[in-house]
Amino acid sequence: MNHPTFPPEFQWGVSTSAFQIEGATAEGGRGPSIWDTFTATGGKIARDEDAKVAADHYHRYPEDIALMADLGVGAYRMSFAWPRIQPDGTGKPNAEGLAFYDKLLDEVCAAGISPVGTLYHWDTPQALEDAGGWLSRDTADRFADYAAILAGHFADRVRQWIPLNEPMVMSIYGYGIGEYAPGQLLLLDALPTAHHQNLAHGLAVQALRAAGATGIGCANNHSPIWPAHDTPGDQAAAAWLDALLNRTFADPMLLGSYPEQVHPHLPENFADDLATIAQPLDFYGVNYYEPQGVTAPGEGNPLPFQLRAIEGYPMTSNDSPIVPEGLRELLVSFHARYREHLPPIQITENGCSFADEPGPDAAVHDPERIDFLANHLRAVREAMDAGVDVRGYFVWSLLDNFEWSKGYAPRFGLVHVDYETQRRTPKDSFAWYRKLVRHE
Ligand code: NOJ
Repeated sequence: MNHPTFPPEFQWGVSTSAFQIEGATAEGGRGPSIWDTFTATGGKIARDEDAKVAADHYHRYPEDIALMADLGVGAYRMSFAWPRIQPDGTGKPNAEGLAFYDKLLDEVCAAGISPVGTLYHWDTPQALEDAGGWLSRDTADRFADYAAILAGHFADRVRQWIPLNEPMVMSIYGYGIGEYAPGQLLLLDALPTAHHQNLAHGLAVQALRAAGATGIGCANNHSPIWPAHDTPGDQAAAAWLDALLNRTFADPMLLGSYPEQVHPHLPENFADDLATIAQPLDFYGVNYYEPQGVTAPGEGNPLPFQLRAIEGYPMTSNDSPIVPEGLRELLVSFHARYREHLPPIQITENGCSFADEPGPDAAVHDPERIDFLANHLRAVREAMDAGVDVRGYFVWSLLDNFEWSKGYAPRFGLVHVDYETQRRTPKDSFAWYRKLVRHE
């Protein structure tokens, strides 16, 4: 397949997160996280699966780094597990936690791969949750302390930093509808958690810069919002949902303001924090999976919108419609909305899940993933041609992994993981991406 061409300095990478691949949740002095608690609560995760072993990356990271070296990517986006670094979320760092990431990062660098460090990918130390979690403003201050520890220790090797992964998902899925840890059902009363995460972002950026870190961005997930009909009711619902899912995180970070729809739901005096949140960023990270459909709320719906499935597109095994042109639309509209306030963009996640399994020839054939990636890259190229400054692309994910409340069934990896044996099998998409990033 012909792929579009990208500038020689374009950054090619893969992404993972600690809780989804590491396992070893009780090793190395790691404290419990909200996801350990949530997975141990029956009925929250498909088949009641947990991540005590996951892809066993904690023990098998040399093999995984060797895979990435073979793949030829220039960058690896990983996350630090906060409860490995500060087992109860405060105070002195745990030496064993630091040592684990020292070894990991040394090997990544030795393989000629540049680490991109996410400070937080949803695994809040349980002790902090017990003290209020993201509903409490204090958590933002704890996060700044944690950021200072990481920057002080790892800034010599980590040259790009992402404070929080997808704060929207933490707020909405974690506190709004309870589908993810910590499992609270607060609907719009969850919005203080958005503000406290935004504040944590701003404070962490300051702490990172104070410790000499460079290359600081974010990883916010965004969806174009598609109203079902061109009616005033559906349009207003779409504007509300766009405010909630997209603008509540991008506006304060880039513009130092919130969309007015969410003002009544934010903590009092939120405006006092806006200057702290709107720190200059070196890149803006976009995670893209799908557009979101919406209609006006039906009777009895307490929310100002109603979600609606997008129809007429092929689907992934995770019930996501496959809409590559949604990525072009998103990038072009972002560029138009934020203009000179928008730093260069990195696509910090994009990918898809299918029920990939080895065939009789022991290989894993995943032509749908190759199509998915090729078509989304074409959309990125089109957005660049339309003037959007995109500097890199990270596939989610290197490995099959623990897909949160869906457990292990959705397989997102370029590499198949047999969870019985922990055997890794690069899929056809791995060979395809390898050629692309190696310009072969
Ligand atoms: C975004 C999240 O950051 C990641 O943890 C998740 O596995 C992927 N989306 C796929 O759903």
